Amino acid sequence: MHKALLIFGTRPEAIKMAPLFLELKKSKHFEPIVVVTAQHREMLDQVLKIFNIEPDFDLDIMKPGQSLEGITIRALEGLCNIIKRVNPSIVLVQGDTTTTYVGALAAFYHKIAVGHVEAGLRTYDKFNPYPEEINRKMTTCLADLHFAPTITSFNNLIKENVKKEDIYITGNTVIDSLLHISKRDYDFPPILNSIINSPLRKILVTAHRRENWDEMKNIFQAIKKLVENFDDIHIIFPVHMNPKIRFDAQNILGNNSRVSLLEPLDYEAFIHVMKNCYLILTDSGGVQEEAPSLGIPVVVMRKTTERPEALKANAVVLSGTDGEKIYDTAARLLSDKTFYLSMKKKLNPYGDGRASFRILRSLEYFFKLSSERPEDFRYDYDDNLISET
Ligand code: UD1
Ligand code: UDP
Repeated sequence: MHKALLIFGTRPEAIKMAPLFLELKKSKHFEPIVVVTAQHREMLDQVLKIFNIEPDFDLDIMKPGQSLEGITIRALEGLCNIIKRVNPSIVLVQGDTTTTYVGALAAFYHKIAVGHVEAGLRTYDKFNPYPEEINRKMTTCLADLHFAPTITSFNNLIKENVKKEDIYITGNTVIDSLLHISKRDYDFPPILNSIINSPLRKILVTAHRRENWDEMKNIFQAIKKLVENFDDIHIIFPVHMNPKIRFDAQNILGNNSRVSLLEPLDYEAFIHVMKNCYLILTDSGGVQEEAPSLGIPVVVMRKTTERPEALKANAVVLSGTDGEKIYDTAARLLSDKTFYLSMKKKLNPYGDGRASFRILRSLEYFFKLSSERPEDFRYDYDDNLISET
């Protein structure tokens, strides 16, 4: 049995590593071992609970208002100790957080092979998103196997001279999770039930990006203006636990009967809220991948995106972070039915729910347990465009 050490620390990494953990657990060749840095605490634990994962090691590094250097130092030391103790055949990291980069670095320091899940996403803008663009580039330098979700990310890696044979196009594991969780029966808890069943159009909001911290006030002002000018909308905003975001959100959007500022929702609740929304306003990476497969239009409140696929398919629109632009884009989607319907399409450029399976098959191939390279994930835009409801 090969020991595969899965390292993750934040909510989105956990959501995207959970299906891979479950797939590895079924394999006769690999023993998955989970170490969480717990760069996030409550938001990570929500995901562990939903997927029923009990970490083998928990570094518990989170501190309120933590700095990038703080997370880096605490995670690096803790992860090096675990890697020495476990001596895995491979370390698997996901995405572009500080835990991701530091996990790959710790593995490299101990000469352990690294597999990078969700490799090759790029904006080519050092500070957008910050620090994720550099985290993922550095992870690419350290990785031995690159699990690119799409052809676009494959091409980005090729441009950086990553060897073609080291890249596997797998789809994004987020779609594995989405399909796994959304097929379960679900009843909303009372707090959500009354909002979801109201006749108002629901707009889901999430915001957390570090490079947007200085613009959060403008972003929240734009949302407040939407509520003032459209009396048939209700904002559902599960607020990230970062104290800075909470403070601005509460100050600007608190005490409004058509704005629900909620605690972070567990993944299952969040997906079902997404399904019931008219529109999503977000700066999240994961939400940009999930929403198109649920057929919900998205306004991406960021200057750049490393996920051009849904943009190209016109299922999401990039508004930038300027308050007026966000307001204008969302207001148009609320009042121009033709524009709205042109964006309301169900499509999935990011995966088909078999990414974890392909990653497992790639690992078998890498360790010469199989002589067959798995087939790449392919998405054909034209075949998959299903227009409006
Ligand atoms: C981190 C990642 C970002 C990812 C995001 C997903 C880095 C540098 N940033 O950003 O790439 O998109 O997670 O959400 O890796 N907090 C809690 N409880 C929690 C989680 C966070 O209280 O469960 C608060 C703490 O005060 C913490 C702060 O939020 O210090 C910020 O957390 P941190 O992980 O540093 O940054 P995020 O903005 O969450
Ligand atoms: N999510 C969740 N509860 C919430 C908000 C988001 O479970 O209240 C999920 C969402 O479905 C997606 C992931 O968290 O899979 C995105 O996390 P986040 O936006 O924090 O990080 P990013 O994807 O931007 O790195």
